Amino acid sequence: MEIAIGSDHGGIHLKEHIKTYLMEKGFGVEDYGTYGEESVDYPDYAEAVAKGVVAGKQELGILICGTGIGVSISANKIKGIRAALCGDCFSALMSREHNDANILCLGERVIGLGLAEKIVDTYLTGHFQGGRHARRVEKIMNLEK
Ligand code: RB5
Repeated sequence: MEIAIGSDHGGIHLKEHIKTYLMEKGFGVEDYGTYGEESVDYPDYAEAVAKGVVAGKQELGILICGTGIGVSISANKIKGIRAALCGDCFSALMSREHNDANILCLGERVIGLGLAEKIVDTYLTGHFQGGRHARRVEKIMNLEK
C-alpha cells in the first residue's frame, strides 16, 4: 500500500518517525514535506497530501502538525477528503470502519511516539464496514455539492 505523508514544522519529528516506521513495515511512503524545522504553513502540506490521495497517487494519507487540528481542518476543505484527527486507537479504528477516513491526522505535541505508532497501525488495518455507514458517508460527500 502507498501512503502519502506530510507535516508542518510542528509535526516534522513525528512525521520522520512514522515515515521510517512505515517503510520498515514495507509500505510505500510518499513524503510531501516539510523537510526541515523552519516555520512553514500547515495548509500547504495538507493540500499536497490531500491532492495526492484524491488523485489516487496514494491510497491513504497521514498528516501531522502540532495539534493535528490545522492539518485536519485544511485537508477537509479538499473535495473527496475525509480527514480524521485521532488521539486514540478506538477513534482511529472507527475512522476507517464507520467514516471511511482517507487521511489520518496526528498532533505531535499531543501524543507520544508509542501511541502514535499504535494509532497508525490501527488506522491502517481497519476496513470500511459499508452498509448503513455507506449511506452516511455518501451524505457527507453530498455536502460538498
Ligand atoms: C504551529 O506552531 C502550529 O500552530 C501547528 O503545527 C498546528 O498545531 C496548527 O493547528
